[in-house]
Amino acid sequence: MPLENYSPASIADVRRLRDALEQQGKKLVFTNGCFDLLHAGHVRYLEQARALGDAMVVALNSDASVRALKGPDRPLNNENDRAEVLAALRAVDAVVVFAEDRATRLIETIRPHVYAKGGDYTVDSLNAEERAALENVGAEIRILPLVPGRSTTGTINKMLSEKSGQRLRIAVLGSGEGSNLRAIISSVQNGRLDADIVAVISDQAESRFLELSREAGLPSHFVDPGSNPRKLGDAAQKEIFEHLERARVDVVVLAGFMRILKEPLITAYSGRIVNVHPSLLPKHKGANAPQLAIEAGDTESGCTVHLVTAEIDAGLTLAQARVPVLPGDTPEKLHARIKAEEHKLLPQVLAKWCQRGLPVRGAVAS
Ligand code: GRF
Repeated sequence: MPLENYSPASIADVRRLRDALEQQGKKLVFTNGCFDLLHAGHVRYLEQARALGDAMVVALNSDASVRALKGPDRPLNNENDRAEVLAALRAVDAVVVFAEDRATRLIETIRPHVYAKGGDYTVDSLNAEERAALENVGAEIRILPLVPGRSTTGTINKMLSEKSGQRLRIAVLGSGEGSNLRAIISSVQNGRLDADIVAVISDQAESRFLELSREAGLPSHFVDPGSNPRKLGDAAQKEIFEHLERARVDVVVLAGFMRILKEPLITAYSGRIVNVHPSLLPKHKGANAPQLAIEAGDTESGCTVHLVTAEIDAGLTLAQARVPVLPGDTPEKLHARIKAEEHKLLPQVLAKWCQRGLPVRGAVAS
């Protein structure tokens, strides 16, 4: 069966397997767990468990139950992927996904001959309901030693601390005045932002943005956008992508970059491109947002820092700051008030990113 068509076994299938084994005087081993981000500890445990019988079924916690057990950032891999990876192991004959907190119903239906559990449990610390079900169906309970130093949580923490031990490598893209770039530069200089600006890229050769970057001694690149005044040509898209890759950029910051980035960049940096926009998104997307706020008669406006996706000004909002729209405001006056907030908010979001390490699945909380 091609792997993309993989689907977990049904409980009835596993019960049939168990009955067939029993007719031959053989044993079915049952174990359960989350098996997120498989590591050698899992593999060794599963090999040992499988050796207790003649076939083994793994009952896999559903995504919702992993979330309930391990917290909102887990699982890292969804239940179908986890099931598929597990099913590919030599020790595993079948995988069933179960959504309940306890494996009781599965134990009662499948009636395994052997129940194996990792060594952070003792027979006494097994859940009373599961233990009663196991005793009821006559399953032999076997606790197997844990493999030291191997755990999914340990692996995740190692990745996070290694990442946060490094300084965040930021690229800033802009086309205009560069006031947000200036704010990021000062935050780095005064230590509030523990990051390195490793590339500054503009589609405007004569912009104040690029001038500021050069004055600060940063690696500054003008990328010729091509002949279309609104779009960024394919050659420019490629050149920007190459600058980012060469500079090993972690996070791309769009600070007044007036053209749309396309694939493959959007996917390659998915969850790692942020934009600052002068409105309270989803209100007033696109250009001239302060003017639109005034025309709409809004009494409040502000700025939004959000993740960039292929759709303009539509990615996940990371943070917002509000300002009043005052009587007699011109678009310029309002924009200046909004920008003053942008200059605080954008470095703050980036600083949060540095403190926590890069988000595992692409989002930082506001
Ligand atoms: C900012 O208002 C930002 O929200 C928008 O473009 C402007 C850039 O200003 N995307 P600056 O070049 O940083 O001064």
